[in-house]
Parts: sequence; structure tokens; C-alpha cells
Amino acid sequence: MDSKYASVGMGNSVKSNGLKRKHAVENIKVKKIKLSNNVSTTNNIKVETNGRNNVQEDKVVNEPTQDLQEARRQLPVYMVRNRLLEEIKKNDTMILIGETGSGKTTQIPQLIHEQRIEGHGAIAVTQPRRVAAITIALRVAAEMNTEIGSIVGYSVRFEDVTSPRTKVKYLTDGMLLREAILDPLLKKYSVVVLDEAHERTVSTDVLFGIVKLAQRDRNEQKLNPLKVIIMSATMDVDSFRKYFQNCPVIYLEGRTFPVTIYHSKKKQEDYQYAAVCTIFQLHATTPAK
Ligand SMILES: Nc1ncnc2c1ncn2[C@@H]1O[C@H](COP(=O)(O)OP(=O)(O)OP(=O)(O)O)[C@@H](O)[C@H]1O
Ligand SMILES: [Mg+2]
Repeated sequence: MDSKYASVGMGNSVKSNGLKRKHAVENIKVKKIKLSNNVSTTNNIKVETNGRNNVQEDKVVNEPTQDLQEARRQLPVYMVRNRLLEEIKKNDTMILIGETGSGKTTQIPQLIHEQRIEGHGAIAVTQPRRVAAITIALRVAAEMNTEIGSIVGYSVRFEDVTSPRTKVKYLTDGMLLREAILDPLLKKYSVVVLDEAHERTVSTDVLFGIVKLAQRDRNEQKLNPLKVIIMSATMDVDSFRKYFQNCPVIYLEGRTFPVTIYHSKKKQEDYQYAAVCTIFQLHATTPAK
């Protein structure tokens, strides 16, 4: 099986899973934040920007040796946090592409909050599914060693676990859409992260338009600016980038888990059936840690 993320950092067109992934890197301003392969044993970060290479020493923060904090430090997003925060501070809108499990959803909002980039506003992070919004909020609250509903909260249909103190709010895209009906300028947020953008639910698609208008109107009315971050593990960045006035696209390289690519010896007529068989085969034959 081929990885759906094979194209990250590989340049032009790459065929993956039989689909042509065309990032057209040559046409767009792309910043590649590249990590060394062994993310768990190195703190040296190799940063590639427009062909130039720098090696940055990334300081290890002296935090309590708790399992959660340790796990957090191993995540690719955490390891390039300084570089990412620089980009977030600099740009009002950006697209962030990173491997699945790299820490986009759990780490980016925390990092923004740690730097107080949100100011007096809050950070909204959308999820297409309520179960994701809830479990991620619980995880982030645990990582931040805080109770759910205080600094970190979530809002899904029929359940609002937030308070006036909530700064990092995970919510379904449907819930943010409802909030936008009452307040199209989304004034209580200073950062909106539209996660899993590739899923293109109707709500997310409408939200793209809403945040774009809110950003423009808030600037015109001299209100506090709105930062928009579009996140995904894989998506056609060209159309998104065009829609958001050629905003910067950041590819984050680095995997949380090792990935081995195996190729099928025979041509598979039914891709879905073959994928399900492979999943069960792995489940039955690969021992748990
Ligand atoms: N509820 C949870 N319980 C345990 N571990 C979790 C939980 N949520 C996330 N993690 C861990 O945190 C890591 C980062 O997860 P996160 O959801 O931030 O990744 P991501 O980059 O958003 O991935 P994806 O592209 O799949 O959304 C994962 O690799 C996983 O090990
Ligand atoms: Mg995610």
C-alpha cells in the first residue's frame, strides 16, 4: 500500500494511491519545514526555506517529566513550534499541511495560546465530527493540566462545555456556523482554525466564505483582526490558496509513527475490498506494542 502523504515535500507531481497529487509547488510560495527522520532522538531541526538550509537548535523546555508532556515533545509540530509560531504571527491567513498524527489539531491551538497570540479573543478550532471535537478537547485539557470547560472547552450540538474563561474552543463546523448566524463577524474569536479542510463538508465550505468576509469587514471597521488557519493532512492547496488571496502554504514534514510502504504484487480490481483485507490482515498479524 502506498501512503496518501507520499507527496509531502517531494516537489512537483507525485502519483499516490493512483491519484495524481498536484501541489504545483513551482507555482506557489511554499515553505517546507523539514524534520530529521528520527524525530524521537533529535532536537536539531532542519529548516528549509526556498532552497536555503539552516540548522536550528531547538531548546528543550524543562517541563515536568510527565508522560503527556513527553509525548507532546515528540510530536513533529511541537518540534518546529518556534518556526510555526513565527509564521502564524506574521500571516493573517495561512494553510498548514502536515502528516496525520503530527500534532496539528492538538498542538497548534495550545502553542498559539501559550504565546497569547489570541489576545483578548478566543481560538476556535472546527472539526467535522462531534466525537472528534470532544475527544480532542479532552486530550488538550489533559495536556494543559486544566479542567475541561475552563481554558479548554468544546461545543457540539446539545452540549456546550465552555465558560467565559475558555480560550481554546473545539467545536463542530456546524456549531461555528450557528454562531456566525448570530454574529457574522465572529467577534469573540481572534483566531479561527478550520481543520480537516479537505473533507469539504457543506458547513466548512460555507465557513470559508464567512471567515473571509469577517476578516475583511473587521479590518474595514478597525476591529481586532481575525487570523484564519486552514489545516489538513492532505488537500488540493491550489484552489484554497487562490480563494484566500494567495496566502502562504506551509508543509510540515515529519511523521509521528514509522510508515512502511508495501506494494501489491497483483493489480487490484476492487481497491476498497483490498484495503479492508489489508487492514484485517495487519490487525490479525501485527502484534500490539
Ligand atoms: N484522545 C487522544 N488520546 C490519546 N492520544 C491522542 C489523543 N488525541 C491525539 N493523541 C495523540 O496526539 C498525537 C497528535 O494528534 P493530532 O490529532 O494533533 O494530530 P493531527 O496532526 O491533527 O492528525 P490528523 O491529520 O489525523 O488530524 C497523535 O499522534 C496521538 O498519538
Ligand atoms: Mg487533526
